[in-house]
Amino acid sequence: MRISVIGCGYLGAVHAVAMTELGHDVVGIDVDATRIASLSEGTAPFFEPELDPLLKSALQSGRLRFSTVAAAASDADVHFLAVGTPQKPDSHSADLTFVDAAFAAVAAVAKPGSLIAGKSTVPVGTAERLAKDLATLTSEVSLAWNPEFLREGFAVRDTLEPDRIVYGVETSAQGEKDVAKLDAVYHEAIKAGTPRLITNFATSELVKVSANAFLATKISFINAIGEIADITGADITELADAIGHDVRIGRRFLNAGVGFGGGCLPKDIRAFAARAEELGRASSLAFLNEVDAINLRQRQRVVDLAVELLGGSVNQRRVAILGVAFKPNSDDVRDSPALAVAVQLKGLGADVVATDPEGIDNARRQHPQLSYEPSVESALDGAELVILVTEWQEYREIDPVSIGSIVAGRIIIDGRNALDPSRWRESGWTYRGLGRP
Ligand code: UGA
Repeated sequence: MRISVIGCGYLGAVHAVAMTELGHDVVGIDVDATRIASLSEGTAPFFEPELDPLLKSALQSGRLRFSTVAAAASDADVHFLAVGTPQKPDSHSADLTFVDAAFAAVAAVAKPGSLIAGKSTVPVGTAERLAKDLATLTSEVSLAWNPEFLREGFAVRDTLEPDRIVYGVETSAQGEKDVAKLDAVYHEAIKAGTPRLITNFATSELVKVSANAFLATKISFINAIGEIADITGADITELADAIGHDVRIGRRFLNAGVGFGGGCLPKDIRAFAARAEELGRASSLAFLNEVDAINLRQRQRVVDLAVELLGGSVNQRRVAILGVAFKPNSDDVRDSPALAVAVQLKGLGADVVATDPEGIDNARRQHPQLSYEPSVESALDGAELVILVTEWQEYREIDPVSIGSIVAGRIIIDGRNALDPSRWRESGWTYRGLGRP
């Protein structure tokens, strides 16, 4: 198939490369010329495991190219819209500016018989609106919604081997043709037995936001119970293990700690609740506001604990922050709990030094007022308090004995409950997790 991917960020760049890997002819399009130049040279403009070698081999195959002009999409059979839907600056709703612009640009160049397939996470009702717009322009190009479920850090694997594929299509003969086209795109995954669900537009849009809302709720659930564990002497990690054995509950996404961040879960639950309000059903999703509030409270919990452990004030005290990315194996700092904690401590007068294996450049652009160090050793040098906020494997493996001589005070907050408390305590550290005695 000839494919275009509009938007080459964390989602689109991976999608374009993965589609080439599957044997298609692909053009990736983005308005950001720097991003396109970097991709064209074989270097992803962000860190994602497995992506760079695959990008290079895709370019070498001659079946992948990148462009800044929408016209480059004109001979594609399927156009994927993979642009961002960030939170609006002045409300909780999703900003659809990029979706609308990408859609208009591609609709203007799409050849008769081609399909526009939305991948971006959008408020329910968007596909129907765009389909109506499209019908006023042409009857020869159709629309489907094909939500993406990839996780950053596993984006390449998740795209090549998804756990399910969802097509939201028109309930008409045209819809059947669109299904056949998408089946041709995803033939490898379908052949491998990946569940493939065909729904109407609204269902496909809701599948995506409901999945993220459920995951966010699961994390806030365990963090709320963690707050009770804190005051009762229970251990939230043992509790999660115990309830996780119930297959109806499951252990995954029950890791208590500083909570969820990133470019998806926080803004998606807010946009979902905002959409419910627009639809006159605010009460149906009011619980998501609580999920959000519980989540943001975890950041405050870490800050409060830092103040407590340093005897009532962090002013002019040196605090080392391990991790600035919103999760390990990513350089993405969008809505990162780690940075929120760092910024708040800085605001309270602390001498904050942060480190991260991949996220420092992005963090510095967002928060130039913080100090950054490239290595764990240099970040910990003279620290009176260490806070682990992003559980990179190399931070999990830190030896408490050897770093004990670098720091000025052996106090650690394990904001992800990722360390073994007894090992740290035996090495002379004051260890505090979240929801752990
Ligand atoms: C999330 C979803 O998991 C993907 O399925 C979805 O496609 C994606 O959003 C999206 O909408 O594009 P992602 O944001 O990459 O993926 O990251 P997650 O692995 O979901 O982690 C989100 C946050 O939750 C991270 O800050 C992580 O540290 C936190 N988390 C995760 C916890 O605090 N506890 C857990 O048990 C699990």
